[in-house]
Amino acid sequence: MRHLLNPLDFSVEETNELLTLASDIEHNPKKYAHVCDGKKLATLFYEPSTRTRLSFESAMLSLGGSVLGFSSANSSSASKGESVADTIRMISCYADIAAMRHPKEGSALVASMHSQIPVINAGDGGHQHPTQTYADLLTIRSLKGHLNNLTIGLCGDLKFGRTVHSLVNALSRYDNLRFIFISPTELRVPDYITEMLREKNIPYEEVIRLEDKLPELDVLYMTRVQKERFFNEEDYVRLKDFYILTAKKMNLAPPDMLVLHPLPRVNEISVDVDDDPRAVYFKQAQYAVYVRMALILTLLNIHVD
Ligand code: CP
Repeated sequence: MRHLLNPLDFSVEETNELLTLASDIEHNPKKYAHVCDGKKLATLFYEPSTRTRLSFESAMLSLGGSVLGFSSANSSSASKGESVADTIRMISCYADIAAMRHPKEGSALVASMHSQIPVINAGDGGHQHPTQTYADLLTIRSLKGHLNNLTIGLCGDLKFGRTVHSLVNALSRYDNLRFIFISPTELRVPDYITEMLREKNIPYEEVIRLEDKLPELDVLYMTRVQKERFFNEEDYVRLKDFYILTAKKMNLAPPDMLVLHPLPRVNEISVDVDDDPRAVYFKQAQYAVYVRMALILTLLNIHVD
């Protein structure tokens, strides 16, 4: 039995197969409409979510399966002190596969160690968010046609943004990539990420000004400043509007640059960017459903000819 805790749990070949399956699902949805008849997905969300939880539910329903779960720790027995280990033992009796989000780093790993069913990490604290990464990869691959030979700018809260950490890890296995990390000093990408890039001889830069780097980018990955992970409100208020991408700034970017954002956004992308054809963050949310459908099939070992 396999779990998905980290995007690197899948080899590059397996990742490419997953993305190819997701594209097939996108183009042939009827073929997959009943392949999970009788199967159940449990969504165990100890932390708020709109996209991840609902896109997992949409994914399972689109495969013919059903869903059960909770959307906050307060509405589960976690509020009475039940551990993740005990909860997943119970859930193993109720469902065939589980997607779990939790504010503590490593919680999905703990769940996987006590589970009788595949566990998908739907975000663990500031650590990893592998299914968002696969959605990001599918978006880039579908719209650029490849995942190699790209200059990727990541902008905003690179310290606490788990989607950034997962995405850089996953992309670092493709060829001829260059990363530009754009953040205030306080929200720099963690050292373990830059150390990994240096070990692999992957070029990267760390800069503060977005405008200077926009002309060089194939992909701009914007992120929200993660209010919930700040230790004090004062720092959050000082940094929250550090970057605001506007239609005017988009004039500096190449005509084929893609703007991605895992969402939710707060102020970091002005709504006047939404109609720009390069703004693909809502399409990215649609790709997330296809990739989560592909992941459910892969972890349940269901093959469709
Ligand atoms: N991208 C993402 O994880 O969104 P939610 O927090 O709404 O699930």
